[in-house]
Amino acid sequence: MTKASAPGKIILFGEHAVVYGRPALAVPVTQVHADVEILDADSAGIWINAPGVDLQAELNTLPSDHPIASVIHNFLFLSRQSPSPTSTGSVRGLTPLSGGEGKFPNLEVNITSTIPVASGLGSGAAVTVALVRALSSHLNHPLTDEAVNAFAYDIEKLHHGTPSGIDNTVVTYARPVYFVKGQPIETFKVGAPFRIVIGDTGISAPTKESVADVRRLWEGDKARWEVVFDEIADISFAARRVIEEGWVNMLGELMNENHALLQSLTVSSPELDRLVSAARKAGALGAKLSGGGRGGNMIALVERENADEVSSALISAGAKHTIVTQVS
Ligand code: PMV
Repeated sequence: MTKASAPGKIILFGEHAVVYGRPALAVPVTQVHADVEILDADSAGIWINAPGVDLQAELNTLPSDHPIASVIHNFLFLSRQSPSPTSTGSVRGLTPLSGGEGKFPNLEVNITSTIPVASGLGSGAAVTVALVRALSSHLNHPLTDEAVNAFAYDIEKLHHGTPSGIDNTVVTYARPVYFVKGQPIETFKVGAPFRIVIGDTGISAPTKESVADVRRLWEGDKARWEVVFDEIADISFAARRVIEEGWVNMLGELMNENHALLQSLTVSSPELDRLVSAARKAGALGAKLSGGGRGGNMIALVERENADEVSSALISAGAKHTIVTQVS
């Protein structure tokens, strides 16, 4: 039996602007995770059990663009292209295998996840990363982190249009990442640990749509929105320094400023704004939406003493649940 796990993630600063080449900061959230277990099966086929998404099926009964099936098809295709694909994991341009070609191993694949779906916590990327790692070790095709990341990015692109790649990167490396699209991975140090409360609106909001809406805005007035993206970039740049130096108190104001710019990009929502202001009223040092917006999660910077108070205030203001996480 082989097991692999991957954490959730939150974007601290820079979402949306990151799609336009600006930096963003994201950190893993280890309190939630996707877990994959693979066993050799007695009966022919690849049997997938993912009770969280109500899935119990043999691989070839699923459409080849099914999010879980596409990971397995592409991994099998990739592993046949190269006997030991340690340095490249790209599935770009590869057509998924159809069931009739070649012989599949007989496997039982069990997938569970505690990461809320479609809420900006990186659940899709975490399932992909855990699944590809479990497959690569069970089938003896070792992959480097770089290859896992490239593979997961290609899978994200199959399902999400034009993702920046931040989700798969943080989830793969499970470390704080200063991310600029197309540039080598930069992790960063956390000078002094700090605490974040994550509040879930419970509204599932496809990132693809908010990203497309921002693109429409930008196409309508590029000069105006480029200025907004530059302002967000300045915040991300400053936030990295502030985090590295451990000047946690300065981080809250940067979050508030980033939220206001995201509001101007039309990606907040009444529910997110309600949670953001409830957190601030309850004593958070700052708060903002996190991820694609419109629904999903918001984050609040808190001191150890007021984490519970902010959590309760979020629940009273309509959050479906909260997670307290320490960034270190
Ligand atoms: O909704 P999430 O957490 O997957 O984050 C999306 C972040 C965006 O910047 C809005 C899009 C992207 O691909 O980076």
